Amino acid sequence: MDIYLENEDVGKYLSNQFDVINKMVENLDVNWPHYYVVKKLLEEAQIEINGFDKISYEQSEELKHERKIEKYNNWVEVYRLTNYHFSRYTSNNISYSEGLFSTLLALNNMYIHDKNISDVGIIGCGPGRSVLDFSLAYPNATIYGLDYSLLSLVLAKKIVSSNEEKIEIIKRNDEVVIDEINGFNRKNCKWGMFDLTKSKLKNKFDIVVCSNVINLMPNHKETLQKIYNMLRPNGYIIYADLTGWRLDRKLEQQLLCSKKAIKENFESFNFKTIECFDGGPYIEKDNQDNFAFYKQTYYIGKKKER
Ligand SMILES: C[S@@+](CC[C@H](N)C(=O)[O-])C[C@H]1O[C@@H](n2cnc3c(N)ncnc32)[C@H](O)[C@@H]1O
Repeated sequence: MDIYLENEDVGKYLSNQFDVINKMVENLDVNWPHYYVVKKLLEEAQIEINGFDKISYEQSEELKHERKIEKYNNWVEVYRLTNYHFSRYTSNNISYSEGLFSTLLALNNMYIHDKNISDVGIIGCGPGRSVLDFSLAYPNATIYGLDYSLLSLVLAKKIVSSNEEKIEIIKRNDEVVIDEINGFNRKNCKWGMFDLTKSKLKNKFDIVVCSNVINLMPNHKETLQKIYNMLRPNGYIIYADLTGWRLDRKLEQQLLCSKKAIKENFESFNFKTIECFDGGPYIEKDNQDNFAFYKQTYYIGKKKER
């Protein structure tokens, strides 16, 4: 696993993740039916952290974010998202989230015909479904799965990049069960610990895919600037996000509040709009009786040369 953080942030990030993961290990209840699966994942994340000898136990506070972001460090959230990304490939072969993932790929296939795509950044990749999809779409390119949540990255890397069989994942139907998925053995992916709020990446990607991440950011305008900076000239952004937020959000977190605002703001960052539309909801099964539906707003644009 790589680190895409500035040197001064590495120690803070690792000690933050170290604390969070250790706390989860301490709180694990040996009587839970899913105890061993979670413990294994947490231990793999601990090994990942211990592989870096540069951990300085600085105050980890500074690289902590508000709850909206930090909740993705928790194994419960990571497994929830893993089901939402990959349950199509588990024993039930069932997935309600394909509307989102198929649309991201369809936008790519419809509008990006550049033969020279070499680097694709999936920003806030979570458990990695778009990394898998784009690694299949671009077998000769490098696909970067970048996320703040180390647990997500550990699981994503295992599912997408390894050939391990029967990777156990926890899922909740009417009861909590363990299901299995086989690793996809994709060799053209790189995985990295990353913080979009602090990104200094410049001219790194030909395509950036960013779904359901920017709405979490403390400042949308600053985030658009960071996305703009990480793209190469003539690079593409494929974006999807929710817009139906609580009304009491801070102003800086309301910028991308509608289809119109998304289009206008990307254009103000020198993107040429290709398409912007509301659509393809993603659906999550909450439990046996409940489904949750979320509208997505999609945007694909091309970075103009200055
Ligand atoms: C709602 S999930 C979306 C995952 C995936 N992109 C999707 O559409 O299903 C948000 C993801 O963004 C990540 N994230 C949140 N804040 C981040 C940050 N500052 N830098 C990088 N990733 C972040 C979370 O860890 C989580 O994996």
